[in-house]
Amino acid sequence: MHFKSPIAMIIPRRFLITAALPYANGPLHIGHLAGCYIPADIYARFRRLMGEETLFICGSDEHGAAITLRAKQEGQTPRAIVDKYHKMFVDSFAKLNVSFDYYHRTSADLHHQTAGDFFKHLYNKGEFIEKTSEQYYDESAQQFLADRYITGTCPKCNYDKAYGDQCEQCGSALSPTDLIDPRSTLTGAKPVLRETRHWYFPLNKHEDWLRDWIEQGILEGEEHHYVDEWKNHVLGQCKSWLDSGLQPRAMTRDLDWGVDVPHDIPGSEGKKLYVWMDAPIGYISSTKQWAKEHSGDWEQWWKDPETRLTHFIGKDNIVFHSIIFPALLKAHGDFILPTHVPANQFMNLEGDKISTSRNWAVWAHEYLEEAPDKVDELRFYLIKIMPEHKDSEFKWKGFQDAVNTDLVNNLANFINRVVVLMHKYYDGVVPEINDLDEVFSARGNKEISTHEAEMLDLFDRMHEVMQGLRTYEFRSALHALLELSTAGNALLQFNEPWKQIKTQPEVVAPVMHLAVQYVAALGLLTRPFMPDTSDRIMDLLALPRLKEEGELLEATNTLAEGFYIVHEGHTINRPKHLFTRIEDGFIERQMKKLEESKSALQSTFEPMKDEISYDDFTKMDLRAGTILEAEKVPKTDKLIRLLIDLGFEQRQVVSGIAADFSPADIIGKKITLLANLAPRKIRGVESKGMILMAQNGDGHLHFVSPDPLCEDGSTIS
Ligand code: MF3
Ligand code: ZN
Repeated sequence: MHFKSPIAMIIPRRFLITAALPYANGPLHIGHLAGCYIPADIYARFRRLMGEETLFICGSDEHGAAITLRAKQEGQTPRAIVDKYHKMFVDSFAKLNVSFDYYHRTSADLHHQTAGDFFKHLYNKGEFIEKTSEQYYDESAQQFLADRYITGTCPKCNYDKAYGDQCEQCGSALSPTDLIDPRSTLTGAKPVLRETRHWYFPLNKHEDWLRDWIEQGILEGEEHHYVDEWKNHVLGQCKSWLDSGLQPRAMTRDLDWGVDVPHDIPGSEGKKLYVWMDAPIGYISSTKQWAKEHSGDWEQWWKDPETRLTHFIGKDNIVFHSIIFPALLKAHGDFILPTHVPANQFMNLEGDKISTSRNWAVWAHEYLEEAPDKVDELRFYLIKIMPEHKDSEFKWKGFQDAVNTDLVNNLANFINRVVVLMHKYYDGVVPEINDLDEVFSARGNKEISTHEAEMLDLFDRMHEVMQGLRTYEFRSALHALLELSTAGNALLQFNEPWKQIKTQPEVVAPVMHLAVQYVAALGLLTRPFMPDTSDRIMDLLALPRLKEEGELLEATNTLAEGFYIVHEGHTINRPKHLFTRIEDGFIERQMKKLEESKSALQSTFEPMKDEISYDDFTKMDLRAGTILEAEKVPKTDKLIRLLIDLGFEQRQVVSGIAADFSPADIIGKKITLLANLAPRKIRGVESKGMILMAQNGDGHLHFVSPDPLCEDGSTIS
């Protein structure tokens, strides 16, 4: 048997695949999975199946204001927060079968060392400029504000909750001073500008080569990658950045949680690496840690031009991975640059943006707890609606339809029919055939074909799936996979072995032989998408489970040489169902949960109180004050004893705010005190007055702080 399109020789290359390090400040949700981790996993598994040397790297991003902010909200230390979420990530990724070769964390010593050295190397090479500039400072919190601690209105799209580094609405990368009407998220105060000294990376110096590299895929006069493979929205974002002119960007921050600027650099005191410099180096340190544990050579993965580096990310990470990090790598020297940054767009949920703070998400850990046996079903649906080129939408009803139609009715049904019929007619033993045996083609009703022609057809269908995988078009790859199963079903439908077996048993053998090859092709090709399903299909065929050691390449080579994947005389196993239907009850429970998080948000604001007179109001003596001391009241959960400076006197007040604040963080804070409230004892501690607090819909408390310019003791009316 000869094939018209022998498969192109694949030159073995090394594939280094990274998935964005998730911030250890909250659990994973379907948006993260569909946007980054599932596509990266598909690609890594595909490359391994093609026999290519592959390393799939990730880890937790444990620094930056996203973490300290969360720590503040949860009244925890940053260390406790990152430990908690890191552990959750490791657990969820394992259950979701995301096949990282190494999952590291940026709080590890090796990472601090690696990132510090990287910084030092750039510093020694003179790649930074030192600059004093004015940055936002919160006077009442007495600290410089990290970009994430400032919110305001986005100058590009007018979204009023944009962060100082980025607008989550339109995806623009921002600087805090771009924001209209900036506010400190610590105190709500209007931040003021203050001088501070930092190391800047002059991105503008790199503009020329970056433009050639991004727009033409050319690096140092040579072809580096195919620009055509890059997605339009990725190129678009990069070009708009380049067109608006690159600016020097500060690579350090005034923070107390992160990677220290190396101490032998003068002026390093109190300075930490900017998290967007620190985190991508996490890919390198994760590779180093892997190399240590597996006697590998990390430099081969990062410095040998034969290695192809691919960064899987969400769209909010584009400029960091296709402009800033490449420029840092290039400035450092020795390192390779990514050949592809296949960023995805966002996934919405039931008509709304996914939001952690509004609890509008399908959380990975919750799904895994509730449906631990339905991992591939989730992976399948997330791939089916993957936001590869535009935003997409997760709908529970869509999930149910996809599973019941595509997996149960199509895929599982086909495989089950083949296995059942094989046992019925041949005791599970693959029958002997001739290439020229006639069958009705899977392509059309009652169109005469041969076994050989139908094998060619199967081969083409397999290539279509592989082509999608190779070009990062995972939705179309999945579609081609389902088409393959549909064709297998058609083959049975048109040839009707259940009728022929009685009258012309000799024409059934080539059909069933073909059908078994189809099942084997599905066993191979489901692997990158649904690894457990692949195992179950291989078990049914009584073939070894895939170890992702070049089996797909081997199988296609075997086919190209005119041999079959499953041999004649091989006995397959007894039937077993691959998937079960998703019942309405399951979907209803999920929808109910979402409705609850919506109504929780709406109902927690207290109803309005009865009207009062002006006299009632003037009875209250409200004063500005400053917290001098704060300590937990022993043996209580919520109470903090505060000493308040009212300018003319000091007051002891007990306040039930310990769930939202830790004592050390609130010393020095400006507060509003209801000063003439009758004194009372709370848990044995005298309290004279009450601190005014605002309660958000989510139940969290926030200080109602006067402007920092208010003197202690001033009256509020
Ligand atoms: N933690 C970032 C996020 O979740 C991604 C960091 S990717 C890395 O958006 F390159 F910096 F590692
Ligand atoms: Zn915006």
